[in-house]
Amino acid sequence: MNCFKIGVIGTLLLFAISSCNGKKDVLEKNEVTWNYTHKGIWKSEVNDVPEFNLLSVSKKEPRVEAIEQLSEATFPIDKKEIISFTKSGKTYLRFPLAKEEKIYGLGLQFKNVQQRGRIYRLHMDHYGNADDGRTHAPVPFYISSKGYGVLINTARYVDVNVGVAVTKDSKHPAEAKDRNTSKSWSSQPYSDNLEIIVPEEGVELVMFAGKDMMEVVQRFNLYCGGGFIPPKWGLGFWQRVKTRYTDEQVRNEVAEFKDHDFPLDVIGLEPGWHSKAYPCTFEWSKERFPNPEKLSNDLLNDGIRLNLWCNPYLWPDSNLDKKMSPFTATHTVWCGTVPDYTIPSARSIFQEHIRKNQLDIGISGFKIDEVDGKDNWLFSDMTMFPSGKDGEQMRSVYGNLMMRMVDEEYRKINTRTFGLVRAANVGSVNYPFVIYNDCYSHRDFITALINSGFNGVLWTPEVRKSKTGEEWVRRMQTVCFSPMAMINAWADGTKPWEYDELYKNCRDVAFLRMRLLPYIYSIFAQYYFNGIPPFRAVNLENGFAMKNEVLKTVLDGTKNPYEEHAVKSLKDQYMMGESIMVAPLFAGETSREVILPKGNWYDFYTGKYIGNGEPVNIECGLDKIPLFVKDGAIIPRMPAIRQTNEWTDNIPLEVRHYGEADGKFQLYDDDGNSYDYEKGKYTLKEFRYENHRGKVKSLKENGAWSYGKITWKKM
Ligand code: GAL
Repeated sequence: MNCFKIGVIGTLLLFAISSCNGKKDVLEKNEVTWNYTHKGIWKSEVNDVPEFNLLSVSKKEPRVEAIEQLSEATFPIDKKEIISFTKSGKTYLRFPLAKEEKIYGLGLQFKNVQQRGRIYRLHMDHYGNADDGRTHAPVPFYISSKGYGVLINTARYVDVNVGVAVTKDSKHPAEAKDRNTSKSWSSQPYSDNLEIIVPEEGVELVMFAGKDMMEVVQRFNLYCGGGFIPPKWGLGFWQRVKTRYTDEQVRNEVAEFKDHDFPLDVIGLEPGWHSKAYPCTFEWSKERFPNPEKLSNDLLNDGIRLNLWCNPYLWPDSNLDKKMSPFTATHTVWCGTVPDYTIPSARSIFQEHIRKNQLDIGISGFKIDEVDGKDNWLFSDMTMFPSGKDGEQMRSVYGNLMMRMVDEEYRKINTRTFGLVRAANVGSVNYPFVIYNDCYSHRDFITALINSGFNGVLWTPEVRKSKTGEEWVRRMQTVCFSPMAMINAWADGTKPWEYDELYKNCRDVAFLRMRLLPYIYSIFAQYYFNGIPPFRAVNLENGFAMKNEVLKTVLDGTKNPYEEHAVKSLKDQYMMGESIMVAPLFAGETSREVILPKGNWYDFYTGKYIGNGEPVNIECGLDKIPLFVKDGAIIPRMPAIRQTNEWTDNIPLEVRHYGEADGKFQLYDDDGNSYDYEKGKYTLKEFRYENHRGKVKSLKENGAWSYGKITWKKM
């Protein structure tokens, strides 16, 4: 017998309940309502909400004060049009979509930015080119071009149909068309809704409103804890060395970077630092690293940090494994035990271990690998954990749990960390980690970078080997315009000077990033203070709009007429902060089309006017990555330092003003390494360009200020 409840969220309606377990039909009141929680944010509990969900794992509080600074907002859609029911242990949800409404978000997707017309199962996984929703951050949150967003707070795999389903009672019915005669027949008739199925008997929903999409993203980020400011060294250049490098080889690598005069702040050690891997011992290999403390200290004296690769599965009978055994799951991964990190004692064991063996000797952070999975080697969904959670729930949050432990440990020593992770989910926005993966499609990497900004996560299009020098340079260019500039040479030992003849191009772009660090650091401050993602879609620009253009299948017998229609989206250009738009070129290209949002746009390098609210064709050699700057933009630059330890007191600043309009920019600074900024220890100065003159006003002076002489430059 089906137990079947149906209701309309937010109103009190009466519904017939079909008989359940042999009992006669009953009429029941739907209890579900939207409750105001913070300005512009409402929560709804659909049936019985499971205690364990995405937000319950991360333990980050909403940043209420910052949310209060955002604009007033009323509930953004007609509550009566949102329906839900629960049947056979699943919760079904339907939300309305208007004709021109566009939908963004729904995880770190690699193929599309606009999600209307897509069907996803949001499933934590290593992205495998399929565009089916399996990804490293399957974030169940969508944002509408109408200025609202909905979070489905569940640690289950969620099915989402975005503007695909057509119902009989639709208020905007699709029109039947005769395929024999009509050219506009479509395999996907018009749909006016977004449907979601959660495989659990209840779910918490959170509704975010905003004056525009950006404000919705800000509310979502701030509600989940707000962004973070990386340590200054984290924004310098990273090199991950070949997997079995030794102490001596690491030292040589550092020396080579110095000899080549190439930026370097962080060396990443790959599996070979463990005495055994995979799974992991989390103990140093005595053979390759006889004295890790000395290595770490020597490198620190040279301004270099070490970051350590790991996966969370424990090598049989290693010290950690022995202590952890009461807290491990029914299944293993690569024959290693799988700890249940929802249990506080398990977290303490791990934290004590990394504190003693890694943090205490100056290790700066971790690269947390393999938490996303691949079904054929990960713990299966049938796995049971001692706390009662199953494999599906744990897979959805394993990355978050790992980040949480590392984050808490570094906070205890008031030292910022910055690292990498291969799986993240809702609630991790405040954790200082960047996602990466093993795929190597340059275009997909850029689409992911764009989507990261809708989902409260960061992404690096890391560089590995390339087929040609041209590809190498193009990849180096985009990674330098991302949250983490990193070569991942774990397999091949590739170095920046791999392509001799193009070395200058690589070096130039790496140093351009170093020059721009005052700007980049300040846009991260915006991430922390206001929830504004540092790297994001052009769609979040004020007034930027693209039509819902559907790419149709032609009925000529050569193609499958039922192929899904994709909605055209802008997936190869993005914003870095409020002023710089990046339009990368890919191997094989010497020119491209760039869509300029409304307003005057200028060339970053020359200050030359380019266009306004229009597509333009640009040409660009290998010596540059195409960058465009908004009218009135103010962009601070410092000298080309090689390491961030040179970013100290009295460093001169060149402040560039672009275009004709007046403009302002808030330059942020602090000690660069501790969490004191969260307690108000920082300096914020507003740089303004008005009436052909630049001026500086102090907004707050309660922390470090690295800058000396300021020179204005009119571009
Ligand atoms: C992969 C990871 C790579 C590298 C490698 C080392 O899973 O994605 O970046 O770390 O492991 O074995």
